[in-house]
Amino acid sequence: MCGIVAAVAARNVVPVLVQGLQRLEYRGYDSCGVAVHLGAAGGDASAPGAGLQRARSTARVAELQAQVERDGLSAGTGIAHTRWATHGAPAVHNAHPHFSHGPGAQAGQRPARVALVHNGIIENHEELRAELQAKGYVFESQTDTEVIAHLVDALYDGDLFQAVRAAVARLHGAYAVAVFHKDEPQRVVGARAGSPLVLGVGRAEGGEPAPHYLASDAMALAGVTDQIVYLAEGDVVDLQLGRYWVVGQDGAALTAGQRPVKTVHAHSGAVELGPYRHYMQKEIFEQPRAIADTLEGIEGIAPELFDGQGEHATAAWRVFKDIDQVLILACGTSYYSGCTAKYWLEGIAGMPTQVEVASEYRYRSSVPNPKTLVVTISQSGETADTLAALRHAQSLGMTHTLTICNVATSAMVRECELAYITRAGVEIGVASTKAFTTQLAGLFLLTLALAQAKGRLSAEDEAQHLKAMRHLPVALQAVLALEPQLIQWAEAFAQKDNALFLGRGLHYPIALEGALKLKEISYIHAEAYPAGELKHGPLALVTSAMPVVTVAPNDALLEKLKSNMQEVRARGGVLYVLADADTHIASGEGLNVVRMPEHYGVLSPILHVVPLQLLAYHTALAKGTDVDKPRNLAKSVTVE
Ligand code: G6P
Repeated sequence: MCGIVAAVAARNVVPVLVQGLQRLEYRGYDSCGVAVHLGAAGGDASAPGAGLQRARSTARVAELQAQVERDGLSAGTGIAHTRWATHGAPAVHNAHPHFSHGPGAQAGQRPARVALVHNGIIENHEELRAELQAKGYVFESQTDTEVIAHLVDALYDGDLFQAVRAAVARLHGAYAVAVFHKDEPQRVVGARAGSPLVLGVGRAEGGEPAPHYLASDAMALAGVTDQIVYLAEGDVVDLQLGRYWVVGQDGAALTAGQRPVKTVHAHSGAVELGPYRHYMQKEIFEQPRAIADTLEGIEGIAPELFDGQGEHATAAWRVFKDIDQVLILACGTSYYSGCTAKYWLEGIAGMPTQVEVASEYRYRSSVPNPKTLVVTISQSGETADTLAALRHAQSLGMTHTLTICNVATSAMVRECELAYITRAGVEIGVASTKAFTTQLAGLFLLTLALAQAKGRLSAEDEAQHLKAMRHLPVALQAVLALEPQLIQWAEAFAQKDNALFLGRGLHYPIALEGALKLKEISYIHAEAYPAGELKHGPLALVTSAMPVVTVAPNDALLEKLKSNMQEVRARGGVLYVLADADTHIASGEGLNVVRMPEHYGVLSPILHVVPLQLLAYHTALAKGTDVDKPRNLAKSVTVE
């Protein structure tokens, strides 16, 4: 993961770098740092005081900002990084930027020569480390990244661009890097393969040459430039004062047509917290709006809703008539939305559906069927395992691909034939909420479109389903009004070490998602089971110390679920039940009920997940954890 920002400009870029890091903290927040070339403003690398300087911190970017302001760090060339630790603990000496002081020297013995930031994982770092150590390079960190800094130094012969090209040719694994060298004060070189990197093209103003930028995500540059070049696999980019160029994997310089500048409206405004205490809380409460936006303009079900937008874009009707099964690939919360969709796709569209965790699918032998619609689900559209699973499926000849994705400019959208863009808006909280419910809305539409393509959707059913979908924002508002009752539950949960979540059918994946939310932000161990599995193991865990959350809509499985609840009560377990108004389950000894405002049929998972989000949020709040940035996690997982 990790986030990168870099800039070459005629004026001080430190504020832009720090602001960019703040917007990239969703990619990791174990530590952060910034390095600048103090010779950059005048361009004279040999001037007194010229040289490389850095500030690094294991606190948040706000603390780094105070540090750079205290140090008066100011320069026109700089790189910055926010880290999600893979190799080496989150400590200052492992924080990026990493320096190389050349062979036989370490910090304090000789001025730094190379400064580098990296996102990704270098798989052959041990071999490279041994090789560089044999040449006299002294390592100061446990990171895989430091080898790249020394490698660039070892290969440098007066031209940073050539040194970086030669260095990345030696790397196995995934990388996006930004590097500068002490002898070339107004130059930053970037490269990417397997990790995202965009080029931001600035505008020349006031007679100054145009500034140029690199970032892991266009959002980091919101308000700085909206002119974005998406770098492709293997690209190396050279930023100099007032000019830039890109060279592709084969070493050939690329034209503006091959790497076009796109106008990207990144939502800098949407990241304001407003009246909320946390982004997660804000995002939970934004769900009625997010669903309304996602469904806006949909008058009827038609394949065109899923037409492609990327390099392989196709008309959806062509694909839909050609497929006879669905394979869903995703990670985390997005995987659980896929698990929910399986019930819809098989139950309503009659489409055989398999759902698989992307990191499993990509490495196992499977039996490909070219008549499969491969559906990737991803909030970010950049998750490394999901992208790799998509490419794996394509390599097996399954070219019919569709993504349900929240970022229209992402790799996932670019690489799939078809797409449905959810309009959740920027999601900042690491624990996904509005992305999940909007994914469900998109997946339900896909279900209806496939049902229609297979002649299984009557006009009457279509109208009824659409009516129910349009009513979702209002229904969600009523569910959000249950918050005070969930706060009461949360007070009890904050005292517990474990929790069980039960659901059946469509609501089993909702139980899974509820357990995930609780564990990721409150650090309470939580597991979810299909309620019918209770007696096959987890019942052994049930005591009065084990709260058991039960998702109990009034569906065909309610009576069976009630029996499962009795099994818990008989062992002294305390039940927390989300019940529909008409289920006749009432609170009593060891039985706490929150009554859902209305029964919502097949769309009920979209409503039932919301109280579970609120429960997790308020439990975390009661425990005083860092809700938006839970320990060890990151929002966008761009390493496998
Ligand atoms: C991380 C996030 C989760 C998210 C998962 C998949 O683990 O913390 O919230 O569900 O990645 O991310 P994606 O962007 O592909 O949906």
